[in-house]
Amino acid sequence: MSDIAALPIGIFDSGVGGLTVLKAVRERLGTESLIYLGDTARLPYGTKSAQTVAAYALEASRRLVSYGIKALLVADNTSSAHALDALRAEFPGLPVIGVVEPGAAAAAAASARGRIVVVATESTVQAGTYPRAILHSRPNAQVTQLPCPLFVSMVEEGLVDGPIAEQIARHYLEPLFSGPEAADCLLLGCTHFPALAPLFRRLLGPDVAVVDSASTTAMVIEDLLALRRLKTPGRGPGAIRYLATDAPERFARVARVFVPWPMEASEIESIDL
Ligand code: DGL
Repeated sequence: MSDIAALPIGIFDSGVGGLTVLKAVRERLGTESLIYLGDTARLPYGTKSAQTVAAYALEASRRLVSYGIKALLVADNTSSAHALDALRAEFPGLPVIGVVEPGAAAAAAASARGRIVVVATESTVQAGTYPRAILHSRPNAQVTQLPCPLFVSMVEEGLVDGPIAEQIARHYLEPLFSGPEAADCLLLGCTHFPALAPLFRRLLGPDVAVVDSASTTAMVIEDLLALRRLKTPGRGPGAIRYLATDAPERFARVARVFVPWPMEASEIESIDL
């Protein structure tokens, strides 16, 4: 087993939502150590331009790489949509995995008739990376993208169920999932949206596949580590280190929406990029 296998996996997000990806990785690869960096000082990324998102993603990733990591997981959908090529060019030899390709491939496979709706941030929608990746796997798919900025704030407020969440979800989704042209697959193209998956499943019914990029990305990283013989030699639960560029108290509070384990502000290291 190489020394590299003992290194942690670096996970990067614009803020706290990427903990959905960390949770999915933890569930599949519990013995791996993880370092999570949330760029809370500069979020949201989802309203920013491609250039700004790519510059921020590079800075944050350089920091993670400086700690020594065996793989870089870009949990942030907006950075995955805009910056993956730049990150792969910056760190040749380091496996760099984004959430877009795994999510798109899973949606292409899960959709019965190939009518897929991608919900994401404005900036991810503008990048057009999800439709390109879906069409790569399934060339005759009909892909509709929908920016849903309200879902992000809703989830951070803990509104993942109940009448307000339901009304906003209906507002965005009902027009696309009703009538003869109704879509049959909803792809959750944003870190925060897995928290809303139970609500979406209830509203859309059993004939609509709700696909989340977080869990499919965790499967991809497991396969990749196995293929490169980079799985940790450790046996017990791997350590998790949390870094944030601002507001550790808020990080710890909002984290409760995304992960089931308790988190205190004192566990979050403040860093500057
Ligand atoms: N993490 C972002 C994403 O997955 C959502 C929050 C933000 O806009 O920064 O696209």
